[in-house]
Amino acid sequence: MGWRQGAIANWKKIEADEHFYGFGERTGLLDKLSDRLTNWTTDALDYTSLTDEMYQAIPFFMALRPELGYGIFFNTTFWSQFDIGAEQTGVWKMQSQDKNLDYYIIYGPEPAQILQTYTQLTGRMPMPPRWALGYHQCRWSYASEEEVRQLAQEFRQRQIPCDVIHLDIDYMRGFRVFTWSPQRFPDPKTMVKDLSQNGFKFVTIIDPGVKEETEADYLPFDEGLEHDYFVRTAEGKVFHGYVWPGRAVFPDFLREEVREWWGNQHQDLVDAGIAGIWNDMNEPAMNDRPFGDPGKKIWFPLDAPQGPVDEQTTHAEAHNLYGQMMARACAEGLERLRPTARSFVLTRSGYAGVQRWSAVWTGDNQSLWEYLEMSLPALCNLGLSGVAFVGEDIGGFAGNATAELFARWMQVGMLYPMMRAHSMIASARHEPWVFGDRVEKICREYIELRYRLLPYLYTLFWEAATTGAPILRPLLYHFPNDPKTYNLYDQVLLGPSLMAAPVYRPGVEERLVYLPEGVWYDWWSGEMHQGASHIVTHAPLEKMPLFVRAGAIIPLAPVMQYTDERPMDELRLRVYPGEGEWTLYEDDGRSFEYRIGAWATTTYRVHSSDSETDGSQTVVEIAARQGEWQPQPRQVTVEVIGKGEQQFEDDGSDRRLTF
Ligand code: GLC
Repeated sequence: MGWRQGAIANWKKIEADEHFYGFGERTGLLDKLSDRLTNWTTDALDYTSLTDEMYQAIPFFMALRPELGYGIFFNTTFWSQFDIGAEQTGVWKMQSQDKNLDYYIIYGPEPAQILQTYTQLTGRMPMPPRWALGYHQCRWSYASEEEVRQLAQEFRQRQIPCDVIHLDIDYMRGFRVFTWSPQRFPDPKTMVKDLSQNGFKFVTIIDPGVKEETEADYLPFDEGLEHDYFVRTAEGKVFHGYVWPGRAVFPDFLREEVREWWGNQHQDLVDAGIAGIWNDMNEPAMNDRPFGDPGKKIWFPLDAPQGPVDEQTTHAEAHNLYGQMMARACAEGLERLRPTARSFVLTRSGYAGVQRWSAVWTGDNQSLWEYLEMSLPALCNLGLSGVAFVGEDIGGFAGNATAELFARWMQVGMLYPMMRAHSMIASARHEPWVFGDRVEKICREYIELRYRLLPYLYTLFWEAATTGAPILRPLLYHFPNDPKTYNLYDQVLLGPSLMAAPVYRPGVEERLVYLPEGVWYDWWSGEMHQGASHIVTHAPLEKMPLFVRAGAIIPLAPVMQYTDERPMDELRLRVYPGEGEWTLYEDDGRSFEYRIGAWATTTYRVHSSDSETDGSQTVVEIAARQGEWQPQPRQVTVEVIGKGEQQFEDDGSDRRLTF
């Protein structure tokens, strides 16, 4: 180790054939060998695959080589940096502006174990409401009640499933947080109530900048000032920067009383029926002059005091925590204000442990093929950093998607743990129907597939909530001893069983796919392939290549227009011959009762047996249901690929089926 005034560093050896993953929100190659990675939350608008400082700053990574892996959590919130052999070949370095060198070495050897220990330390996500796993539609902005009602109607008329509509900054009165524009949204409560009858949930954006309002009564500003909740400079002046509402001030979310106050500000939104909050611009992002005028990005001075009086620090130590503590204030506030229903919280910025309070989206991407391709390594690296509930803006935020790009993006978006389409003001609209019939049909089909996969997905969320496992996984997560997976970023696994090999280029209709060791089935045709091998698969615009591992059991629900349309009265298990086991997790999907035992798990097993009379048989064993929650009476269809199907009424008892 070494140190000098204001910095401390530590060096370690890079072993032969060692690869480096995680590091929070990182696109580009999956493996960060030879990179320098800074941890400093930044509004990374216009980011590229080479951008270093991103919205999230998570000083964690895992180093993997065949048969061995370990994780490093650099326990500092100050500016810090990893240098993975960039400065000196064969040596990695971590340095920070902290006074102490404090880090954890987490033994694996496999990624799953590393993440389990890392999330034991930094926390795991709570179970989200089930509706948050449905399709989300967003735009900057659906800017009036009329527009929102029309949007909702359009989804239902066209029979494209959708659960969530996001309202961007224009719902507010002059961008004042915790207000509604009386012209655009004269009666939000009635609007939300009416549309909730048709299954819609609403998420509103909230930014940390509070408009400095010296004349009119504006409680968030008046109260915050009165109680001294806003960040001040070292000289004691209330700090201000420019954001959407013009000159704004910023709460010090590191203080508990400020978080509590901020959380309570959501009361009116909750009263209007809002079920989720989208926290934006919380790196924090601001300019030194009004938006639109040429100016520069700023943040609080590094010596600005922050945090509770008895544990005060400066912005230098608090910077990376700003967004995270805002999301925490929001999540804790919503849990107080909506004590019987799970809420959805989304944040742009965060630090290690952000998963405890919020889902994360990756900020402002662009409507270009490159960004579609870049989305998977970014989401996979977040997943390998303990953040499982993640998504990118489907269709791209800035710029104009083409019909083909949008169709391909919707297919990939089906795999995002948070599936939300978004688009920037003055750019092409990104609703599933705006690109004509052919693309609309593709969007419908993939959103429907998402809804059919909900029992599988919901179980993956439970796994994330209980073990820290990612939902979307790079192949190396399950094949850490296969060097061919170490840099494979354009194929992904959704959970352990489903592998996608999406198309990322215009005009491409064939795709080269790597199948790791084992037997794989084509999701669409049921065709069997033997790995490890490369195959070329046909991928016309209608088809995203999808494969399933032998021994997989995939539970499917009937298509619904929204997740709560009706109880899941039919369940289909698609079983792929081989050896395997899968535990289905269920609860009511909306309350906190699961915390006190109201959940159910059912374990399914598949194997083959050779009987003298019948030859080779596939056996599906269903263990008795565990837990206190009772699902609706339902019919279960077990479909063994290539062998046929059987049905039974599910009463929770064990059974054995042979095919
Ligand atoms: C930021 C967000 C984007 C949002 C916009 C307006 O750019 O990243 O998602 O639409 O602000 O609120």
